[in-house]
Amino acid sequence: MADLSTNLAGIRSPNPFWLASAPPTNSGYQVMRAFEAGWGGAVWKTLTDDPVVNVSSRFAGLRFRGQSMAGMNNIELISDRPLEDNLREIREVKRRFPDRAVIASLMIEPKRERWQEVVKRVQDAGVDGFELNFGCPHGMSERGMGSAVGQVPDLVRQNTEWVAEVAEVPVIVKLTPNITDVRHTARAAAQGGANAVSMINTINSLMGVDLDTWNPIPHVDGLGAHGGYCGPAVKPIALHMVADCARDPGVPLPISGIGGVATWQDAAEFLLMGASNVQVCTAVMYQGFRIIEDLVEGLNHYLDARGLASVEDLVGKSVHKYVDWNDLNLSYKVVANIDQDLCIHCNRCYIACEDAAHQCIHPAEDGSGGQQLVVDVNECVGCNLCHMVCPVEGCITMVEVDTGRPPETWRQWQSIHA
Ligand SMILES: Cc1cc2nc3c(=O)[nH]c(=O)nc-3n(C[C@H](O)[C@H](O)[C@H](O)COP(=O)(O)O)c2cc1C
Repeated sequence: MADLSTNLAGIRSPNPFWLASAPPTNSGYQVMRAFEAGWGGAVWKTLTDDPVVNVSSRFAGLRFRGQSMAGMNNIELISDRPLEDNLREIREVKRRFPDRAVIASLMIEPKRERWQEVVKRVQDAGVDGFELNFGCPHGMSERGMGSAVGQVPDLVRQNTEWVAEVAEVPVIVKLTPNITDVRHTARAAAQGGANAVSMINTINSLMGVDLDTWNPIPHVDGLGAHGGYCGPAVKPIALHMVADCARDPGVPLPISGIGGVATWQDAAEFLLMGASNVQVCTAVMYQGFRIIEDLVEGLNHYLDARGLASVEDLVGKSVHKYVDWNDLNLSYKVVANIDQDLCIHCNRCYIACEDAAHQCIHPAEDGSGGQQLVVDVNECVGCNLCHMVCPVEGCITMVEVDTGRPPETWRQWQSIHA
């Protein structure tokens, strides 16, 4: 069996699966049950020194093709439980599970004394690290915290510095995706003395409108407010941000990947794109703590099958393959190939190509009565659309063809022809 243990900026855990700061980490009762189930670490539901009041209702799910939580939206704030209760439970969790990572997520008004006072109190409870919540996009941001800090690199740097001055355990800065280029705030976190960054927090969103009542969804006594979007639907956005930071020399920090992780395959993709571990929220809210068994088993088998001894052997292995568009080989070409034995003649590929691509799928002139479809490889640009709409796995494959041209990128082309 491969070694699943990980070390994020000095924070060790027996596997790379942490619970993200969210409802599943709201109490010691929950975190202990999660650890019993096998989770490697937990980032406690964000703590603060000034109690907040939450609203009812709070969540909404995006239903898509049978999946009732393909995306999730929430207008919940941070922990509304007294800080002392949380700290007492953190001590108890660490006593019972010393080998698991317990991280305190913090969100404090941007004032040095207040940050430092809370950091000292919380680290006395024995946490393994801090995660600074500069990401929550609703409620607290209107009060100058969360993403209101995370959207301004100078504030990220300054708030991180205040914490780093007194923290005796590693400091992770959790970044907001509600920003044009996450590398700017990630670099600011590094400059402020962060030991790691985590991403992403939730994305600004409005889930929908009830067509009977015309209320926003979710609503609180008839009114709605913008919320934070997460779950499987946000994974591509999160993966891009992780990869962008992983290949940025200005962000020389380990990364904790968050956003839409629901399977071991999702986790492996984040690891390949540079994350040292992953955090999970929506998938646990949807299916409970027990998904950890599938995550651990699946990753273990994958590492074994690839002949890899540890998770470390996977981390960052795809980062060098994620480049600027201008470094892609313009001479490379694939074309669609339809397996006539698998084709069920649904015509989806034909319609997609006719209406939305390059009109290169035609009925075969072979007496099949127009049932057989063939690809005009000279016209096919290799866009993948037919492959994507085809309902039969393996029926349409994209096959590399020799263009006879040497590899050339736009950057190379420009430097020769400019
Ligand atoms: C209901 C809910 C509450 C959340 N509360 C917090 C929070 O208190 N602090 C925080 O840093 N992130 C919070 N998050 C964001 C998650 O930690 C995570 O960044 C996000 O949900 C993306 O991961 P996922 O796609 O696995 O859900 C919350 C998410 C949800 C759905």
